[in-house]
Amino acid sequence: MPAKPSFLLHLSGIALLALLAGACSTSDEPAPEAASTPPAKTSLDDGTALLPVQDEDPSPDAFSLSLEARESEVTYGASPPTKVWTYNGTVPGPLIEAKVGDRLTVKFTNKLPEPTTIHWHGIRLPAAMDGTLAMQQPIEPGASFTYEFTLKDAGLFWFHPHMRSDIQVQKGLYGTIRVRGQAEPEADDERVLVLDDVRLKADGSLAEYLDDEARMMGREGNTILVNGKQTPTLRFRPGALVRLRLVNTANGRFFNLKLAGASFRVIGTDGGLIPGPHDAEQVLMSPGERYDLLVRMPASPGTLELTSEPYERGHDSGKNPPLKVATFSVEQEPVGRTLPLPAAGPAPERLPDGPADFSLNLDEKVMPDGVVFTINDAVFPDVPSLMAPLGSTRVFEVNNKSEMDHPFHLHGFFFQILARNGQPEPADALLNKDTIIVPMKSSLKLVARFDEPGMWMYHCHILEHAEHGMMGEIHVE
Ligand code: C2O
Ligand code: CU
Repeated sequence: MPAKPSFLLHLSGIALLALLAGACSTSDEPAPEAASTPPAKTSLDDGTALLPVQDEDPSPDAFSLSLEARESEVTYGASPPTKVWTYNGTVPGPLIEAKVGDRLTVKFTNKLPEPTTIHWHGIRLPAAMDGTLAMQQPIEPGASFTYEFTLKDAGLFWFHPHMRSDIQVQKGLYGTIRVRGQAEPEADDERVLVLDDVRLKADGSLAEYLDDEARMMGREGNTILVNGKQTPTLRFRPGALVRLRLVNTANGRFFNLKLAGASFRVIGTDGGLIPGPHDAEQVLMSPGERYDLLVRMPASPGTLELTSEPYERGHDSGKNPPLKVATFSVEQEPVGRTLPLPAAGPAPERLPDGPADFSLNLDEKVMPDGVVFTINDAVFPDVPSLMAPLGSTRVFEVNNKSEMDHPFHLHGFFFQILARNGQPEPADALLNKDTIIVPMKSSLKLVARFDEPGMWMYHCHILEHAEHGMMGEIHVE
C-alpha cells in the first residue's frame, strides 16, 4: 500500500481510483466517494501531460520539493531551440499535486543571472510567503529561499516571479499547483492546460520586444502554447466526460475559448468549485484567471478545434481573426459509461454587500517616455496604500475609465463580485475569484475579507501594465 495520498495524486485519475479502492480495503478510513464507481481505463496518452514534481517528504500531510530557476533550452513546435528561463528545466515548470491541508515546502534556489521572487497566485498564505517586494528581499543570483505554507483551498493555482514579471514570466517562469478537495466531481479524464503565447523569431529565440503596442496591450506572441506545446493535439475517448483545468499564464493575451461542436459546463474558477455550474459556448480568460470546465466528448470519433475567438478588449483587438489553440482528437473505444454533469456545486459563504470602502479608478496616461497605467491618477509606487483592519470585510469599487480591459488581481484573498455596472451579480455565479476582467468604461463592485495581516498587492495582470504603474498595496493590521 502506498505511503500517502499525495503520492497517489501523482498517478492518473484512473490509477488513483484503482489504488484508492485497494488501499481502502485494508484501512479503517471510510472510502472516498469517488472510489464507489468502477474504474475504467479512459485516459489517452498524447504527450501533453504536465510533469508532476516528486514529493520529498514522506509524511502524508506535507509536500516538499526543490525548485530551481535556471536557464534552459526548449523546442516550440517546428522552430529551432529557444533559450528560456525555467523552473526545474521545463516550460511550464513542474505541476505540484497536493491536497487541502497539506503543508507545502518549496526549497527554492535562484540560478538566474538576475534577482527574482516567487508569488503563489491565488493561494491564501502568510504575507511573508507571498513573494512580493513589499514583504521580502529579492532572492539574488545563487541565493536560496524556502517558501512554506499550508494549502487551505482546493483549486488550480499557479506560481510565477514578482520581479520584472513582464520579462521573467514571458521567458518561461511559471508552474501550477493542483490542490484536491474532499468532494470533487467525477470525470473520465482530467487535464491541466496551461495557456500561453510567445513571440519567436526565425532563429528560435524569444523576441525581446516592448514596442508601443506591446506596452499598450501587453505582449502578445505569434506562437500559442498549451502546456509548452505549440497548438497540440489532445486525445480523448468517445463519450468521455473530460475535466479541463485551465490557467492563462500569458503576459497580455486574453483567450476567448470555444470548442466547436461541444459546450462547456463551467464548474469552477480561481477559488475552486462554484455553487452554480452553468453552460457556456465560450469562456473568456484574461491573464491570471483559471477556469474549471467539464466537456462531454462526442459519441463517435472525430476532431474538434479549440480556438480563441475574437474579443474586443480595446484598440480594435476584436478585429483579429480566431486563433487555433489545440485540436481535440476523439478516438479509440467509447468510454462505455455516461457520467452525470453536476447541477450544483458547494455553497461557500457569501460575503455581505455594503457601501464601497475603496474606490479605485483605473486609467492610462501618455507620458514623454511612453504610456503609463494609473490607479487614482497615480503610478506605482506612488499609489497611496489602502488600509484594512485585520478581519474586516471591505467593499471595492473598481472603475475602469480607460478604453481597454484590465484584469484586476488581488493577492492573498479571494473576492466576490457584488455588481457589474450597478447590476447585482447572481449569487451562485462565480463566487470566489482572485482575478477578474474589468471591461473598458465599466465598473465592478467587489468584496473581500482581510483575515491575514501584512502588506498585500493588487494590480492589473497584464504584466506590462503592472510593471508600468497599475499596481497598489493594501496594508492589513
Ligand atoms: Cu499572478 Cu501579483 O500576480
Ligand atoms: Cu491592465
